[in-house]
Amino acid sequence: MVMTTELPYHVPVMREEVLALMNPQPGGIMLDCTLGGGGHAALLAERLVPGGKLIGLDQDPEALTEAGTTLASFGDAIILRQARFDSLSTVLDDLDIEAVDGILFDLGVSSYQLDTPDRGFSFKDPEAPLDMRMNPAGGGLTAADLLNTLTERELSTMIRENSDEHWAARIARFAAERRVETPYRTVGQLIETVHAAMPARARPEDKHAATRTFQALRIAVNDELTILGHALESAADRLAKGGTLIVLSYHSLEDRIVKQLFAHRSGHGPGDLIYGKPPPASVELLTRKPVEPAASEVAANPRARSARLRAVRKL
Ligand SMILES: C[S@@+](CC[C@H](N)C(=O)[O-])C[C@H]1O[C@@H](n2cnc3c(N)ncnc32)[C@H](O)[C@@H]1O
Repeated sequence: MVMTTELPYHVPVMREEVLALMNPQPGGIMLDCTLGGGGHAALLAERLVPGGKLIGLDQDPEALTEAGTTLASFGDAIILRQARFDSLSTVLDDLDIEAVDGILFDLGVSSYQLDTPDRGFSFKDPEAPLDMRMNPAGGGLTAADLLNTLTERELSTMIRENSDEHWAARIARFAAERRVETPYRTVGQLIETVHAAMPARARPEDKHAATRTFQALRIAVNDELTILGHALESAADRLAKGGTLIVLSYHSLEDRIVKQLFAHRSGHGPGDLIYGKPPPASVELLTRKPVEPAASEVAANPRARSARLRAVRKL
């Protein structure tokens, strides 16, 4: 695929905070569940050698190619697999690894995915296909498929629940009307629909009017929230004693899932409503409140601004 700019593949977010909490040591084994361009993975790998291993997963084959290049100098200290992160236990079983010293999730999409118009994640090219699948070769419905096949009510619920978009019902109504004449195919069609459904005065000043609708579709296409819950359960199970699990999330729906699971596993209240009566605490909370990036990092990399970091240590 062709990138439109010479931008770096992805700038790793909160690198100092991640390193301090993960504390990688020579001989350790760590799992990066969201390799992207391998930025965080390289930081960890540098400190795991000699003797250690960094296992990296990504469902996007283009990320694996990029990370393979970034991490090539680490040789067989690196093991990369194309996998969805809710299958992390299967990957570890296949490698005959019982437990790891650290697990990182840096959620969402990479800058490369956002900046590559033909993946359908960005607003930049109106003619780009409305795809949004992180693993396009893996089958499954595209964002255009969802817009063309869900009922108006399903569309409205999906947009509202996945993004808190106030105009969800109207956007869904306009989409259901418009697809009769011209089925959805491109990014531009969705942008036009959102603009038509949302009065000019209601459009946010600090971001594109379609930001929330795009987020909602991306979450639905990739089933992101369901997968995250399952993956975090497995991750907490596969941590070695003293090992650290870190999650960087970028919107409140993700952060809520992380917060609830960490609360449940550490024996602290709110997660119990979702996960039932807590078992004896198996992890210790390392972050009572989510850690935010420093202002200097946000100034240098505006895409870091919504990052929220939570971490636990296995007891
Ligand atoms: C924010 S980027 C990670 C960037 C990376 N930390 C770095 O430093 O370059 C998120 C990556 O996670 C991948 N991803 C998102 N959801 C996934 C899932 N359920 N399973 C596997 N990979 C996933 C995306 O394809 C993307 O490459």
